[in-house]
Amino acid sequence: MAARTAIGLDIGTSGVRAAELAFGKSGITLEKFGQVALPEGAVRDGEVVQPGAVTEAIKQLWAHTKFSGKDVIVGVANQKVIVRQVDLPWQPLDELKESLPFAVQDTIPMAVDQALLDYYPLEELTTEDGTRTYRGLLVAAQRDMVEAQLQAVTDAGLNPVMVDLTAFAVLRSLADSDDLGMGSTMEALIDVGARVTNIVVHEGGVPRFVRILLMGGADITDALAERTGSEQTEAESLKHEMGMSSDHSDPKVQAAGRVMEAAGQAFIDQVRGSLDYYTASPGARPIERIVVTGGGSRLAGLSERLFNSTRVEVERGAAFGELEIGKTGLSPDQMEFVEPLAAVPVGLALGGAS
Ligand SMILES: Nc1ncnc2c1ncn2[C@@H]1O[C@H](COP(=O)(O)OP(=O)(O)OP(=O)(O)O)[C@@H](O)[C@H]1O
Ligand SMILES: [Mg+2]
Repeated sequence: MAARTAIGLDIGTSGVRAAELAFGKSGITLEKFGQVALPEGAVRDGEVVQPGAVTEAIKQLWAHTKFSGKDVIVGVANQKVIVRQVDLPWQPLDELKESLPFAVQDTIPMAVDQALLDYYPLEELTTEDGTRTYRGLLVAAQRDMVEAQLQAVTDAGLNPVMVDLTAFAVLRSLADSDDLGMGSTMEALIDVGARVTNIVVHEGGVPRFVRILLMGGADITDALAERTGSEQTEAESLKHEMGMSSDHSDPKVQAAGRVMEAAGQAFIDQVRGSLDYYTASPGARPIERIVVTGGGSRLAGLSERLFNSTRVEVERGAAFGELEIGKTGLSPDQMEFVEPLAAVPVGLALGGAS
């Protein structure tokens, strides 16, 4: 039985955000969306390092936005969670999941007794010697990291009912439901955060490749602040104002433009490297479309540069595209502003439907 409502909670570097969805017969409605900023350093590289500050922000979020409940689905994306394509001999899925620690202990770079493991079969194959085999994605997350994350949530009085990979949330909120399972367009979804960028390549909603990059918009701000000797907040507004266009007559701005150019290109090179890595893997089809979300995707000129580097069409993701909009209390302008930030919490909540 599908839950009637679900709330997705995204703990990002710049803030905590949550979206509540209601699942009805006629469709899915966005009931609430809210966010509260986090102080610098509370979350580092996708990990909660100051649990008290995170708990406080979540409490404020629940005080400000009238979510209907306390059950939440939480996302993780950092260096302590890995996703790999792994082939495993076929067996009933529940048995396979039980035997995962033995099956994968030599394939993951962490001790299995300190890891939370899950497996998402993508297809079934028969190997040359006739063995029935699953090809799927193995997710391994370091238990301590997940527990620290959840502790910050429970300390805020909430009840985490599920932990999901942030990249899977992005996939759920952006994969076109029309072509689910139809093996259509090869698409790369890229959620650009402040310090974490989630990449998921999928085909008709089926994930083929996941990469978590510890890089994002804040690295560009850092480069600007350092090279121009300005404060972080000043560099941040300069970045928003300028974007990645270097066409400026003022020499001071020109210098900043070059810094932006270099830092932005370094980011794009990393993204492209990940996509190239995937497309070079056996059996991979070329990527036909890139869809970007996340605050970092707002950087003016980023999509164009990404297109120039990959020669793949780049679009902005619309996390609210397939949702009915309820009484969120947000104006149309605010909705438009928060939409790129909503892909993760909306996608986490969508995971509560099944
Ligand atoms: N208009 C804009 N122009 C350029 N960059 C922007 C703009 N708006 C937001 N950003 C950048 O977006 C980034 C924050 O994105 P987002 O809120 O998605 O990250 P987060 O989820 O908090 O962090 P993470 O996912 O990395 O943990 C910041 O680096 C910020 O500078
Ligand atoms: Mg984020």
